[in-house]
Amino acid sequence: MGVTAVIGLQWGDEGKGKVVDAFCQGADVAVRCQGGANAGHTVVVDGKRFILHLVPSGILTENVICLVGNGVVVDLEVLRGEIEEIGRAGLKTSGRLVLSTKAHVVLPIHKRVEAIQEQKRGDRKIGTTKRGIGPCYSDKCARVGIRVGDILEPSTLAEKIGSLCGTYRDLHNDQPVSSIDENLEHCLRHSDMVKEIAGDAGSLLRRSVSDGKEIILEGSQGFLLDVDHGTYPYVTSSSTGIHGLANGAGLAPTEIGRIVGVAKAYTTRVGAGPLPTLMEEPFQTEVRERGKEYGATTGRPRRCGWLDLSAIRYACALNGVTSLAVTKLDTLSGLEELKLCEGYDYGGNFVNAFAGDLHILKDCTPRYVAHPTWGEIGNLTDSKDLPVAASRYVERMLEAAACRLELISVGPSREQLIRVGR
Ligand code: IMP
Repeated sequence: MGVTAVIGLQWGDEGKGKVVDAFCQGADVAVRCQGGANAGHTVVVDGKRFILHLVPSGILTENVICLVGNGVVVDLEVLRGEIEEIGRAGLKTSGRLVLSTKAHVVLPIHKRVEAIQEQKRGDRKIGTTKRGIGPCYSDKCARVGIRVGDILEPSTLAEKIGSLCGTYRDLHNDQPVSSIDENLEHCLRHSDMVKEIAGDAGSLLRRSVSDGKEIILEGSQGFLLDVDHGTYPYVTSSSTGIHGLANGAGLAPTEIGRIVGVAKAYTTRVGAGPLPTLMEEPFQTEVRERGKEYGATTGRPRRCGWLDLSAIRYACALNGVTSLAVTKLDTLSGLEELKLCEGYDYGGNFVNAFAGDLHILKDCTPRYVAHPTWGEIGNLTDSKDLPVAASRYVERMLEAAACRLELISVGPSREQLIRVGR
């Protein structure tokens, strides 16, 4: 199959971890490409729940080599904790994990600055995960960031950190930010781990492609949080779509043969920003509890909305999605009512593509259609056994996605997965 990319089509938390885990059975290499510890990929293996923030979900499958690509921003503390936890679960990371020397390092100062920025935004705050993601990517683009490779050169590291901290001191002279020593000490504390796992992840990946290996690119967040195409400014600071994955892995886009879009059967959003199809009560609470819709990274309750077909249409079109993975279809089982957003009324017209621009989206009103409900489906393993209503619901998603169906997830465990023939 070559290279498969897995991307989220909504506002994150689509269940990509489980889908990636399914594809990793039989894969050789798994790659995290963008984002950082703001992500929380949940995979349940043999009843044990793993939440991975930085290490690719492929680590849970024996023999899969895991790469943290150049496009990721790395919190070394989180990475160390994760490696230790994986080790405690009896899984090997040694020799299986490579961290790109080009990846940028999230420093204590980034988290501090983010807290100040959010506080200053007042009621326009973004509701970030407070993982320092935005400031770290800002420094990357301003060409003053610290890369993993810099930690391997202690002679120049202090000077680089000194100049970075100096910039922030000047900007935030009214607030205590973070000292040079604190940031330097942070890097040096983790330098042993960095020495062990840092390497040229991009070359290794390109060699694996040439050797015909099976490769999984693991997307983080969702396309509606993309810094260009999402609901800006209520987005994350990376390109969460296919373009960001290719770039963040260090691979030519033309090498990606299969692009799997992951869509949850309903919509959720955590943090600020519009969710036009927000469910009314009691549906929202019911779906949140049934679907355990609480942030894997921050524990915040997620807002829950009806499925937005126009968002799926938009995300699939911009990413060239070749197949669809539908997740959490079981969460909707037994709901008293169900409806779908087919598109929006805007300026007296019906538009069926999502407006990835708040200036337009604020004047859009969702247009819904009622959909029949269905009962429990958590034990099904064949799509032919799905109730007609559930099957028709998935068909509606496929019409919007304009691609074939690949998977349907009907529960949290590895086994609760309906695979549809290629
Ligand atoms: P940041 O990525 O921490 O800067 O947060 C920016 C926005 O993206 C906030 O609304 C977050 O809640 C959201 N966000 C970031 N990462 C994730 C994720 O993995 N799942 C869902 N939302 C996310």
